Amino acid sequence: MRDQAEKLRELVNEHANNKQKTSGTRVIAVTSGKGGVGKSNLAVNLAIYLSTLGQKITLIDTDLGLANIDLILGITPEYHLGHFFSGERSLSQIVMEGPGGLRIIAGGSGFQELADISEWQLDKCLQQFYSLEKNSDIILFDTGAGISNKVLRFVVAAKEVMVVTTPEPTAIADAYGVIKVLARENSASKVYLVVNMVHKEDEGQQVMNRLVMVAEKFLDFPVEPLGMVFYDPVVTQAVKLQQPFSLMDPHCKAAKNVQNLAHRILSLPEVPAGGFISFWRRLVKMRHLGE
Ligand SMILES: Nc1ncnc2c1ncn2[C@@H]1O[C@H](COP(=O)(O)OP(=O)(O)OP(=O)(O)O)[C@@H](O)[C@H]1O
Ligand SMILES: [Mg+2]
Repeated sequence: MRDQAEKLRELVNEHANNKQKTSGTRVIAVTSGKGGVGKSNLAVNLAIYLSTLGQKITLIDTDLGLANIDLILGITPEYHLGHFFSGERSLSQIVMEGPGGLRIIAGGSGFQELADISEWQLDKCLQQFYSLEKNSDIILFDTGAGISNKVLRFVVAAKEVMVVTTPEPTAIADAYGVIKVLARENSASKVYLVVNMVHKEDEGQQVMNRLVMVAEKFLDFPVEPLGMVFYDPVVTQAVKLQQPFSLMDPHCKAAKNVQNLAHRILSLPEVPAGGFISFWRRLVKMRHLGE
């Protein structure tokens, strides 16, 4: 058993090293300090647009509380990560297909169980993670809000983190709190900033400049301004109808802004040590953050 596990680990490491030499699967966590700033809506619509650009996208909902992605897409997941970790279902059985060939995985209670995962269980998962990595150019995690959240370790383990805020002072202060933790826990990660629900362009620009400047000055930490998304009534309407806003009205303001964000994401320089398997290794090592 030990031999087999070691061989598998070697195989997966070899694959990860090879992939790192080339492009590698990008793991991007979408997070925020304050709740309700638009993470799930942005994650879903970004994932859809990136899929239409020919990217292989897997969207993983890590929220332990209220359902997010499934509500926005109007789908009811039968299985979630909890079923995978308990061994009831394989990874391919819990993957749902979304618009444009997008692959979606519901979090459910899977992340709580992850805290108790043994080395042996992890080795068992690696082979299936390997196939997920092979089928994904980008893995997007939609996380819950807040720095004391159990989900924080997903953000710290990711090499690319998209912090979402609104122009509201409390949201900005909480976004700074997340950036502070990231600067302390994983200074190797790239942090991108998105300002959502902006009413005027200079309002969004000011928020972006301020946060970038403060992070640089007080944390000596670079934050990459990614872009802004305007407040758009189509988003609220789409949420009510359980449809992604970019499909309901591809020409609406918010959809255009998300398209720009997607192009920006694709144009960013490669982040070393990416990949889903190395992400998961870091994640398991960071159990202390979830307690
Ligand atoms: N650009 C926008 N324009 C107008 N309304 C928006 C926009 N983005 C988000 N909203 C509104 O904000 C609400 C919350 O959005 P969403 O669920 O995506 O936030 P969240 O950050 O994922 O929340 P949570 O922290 O609870 O997971 C939506 O239901 C929608 O009505
Ligand atoms: Mg959400």
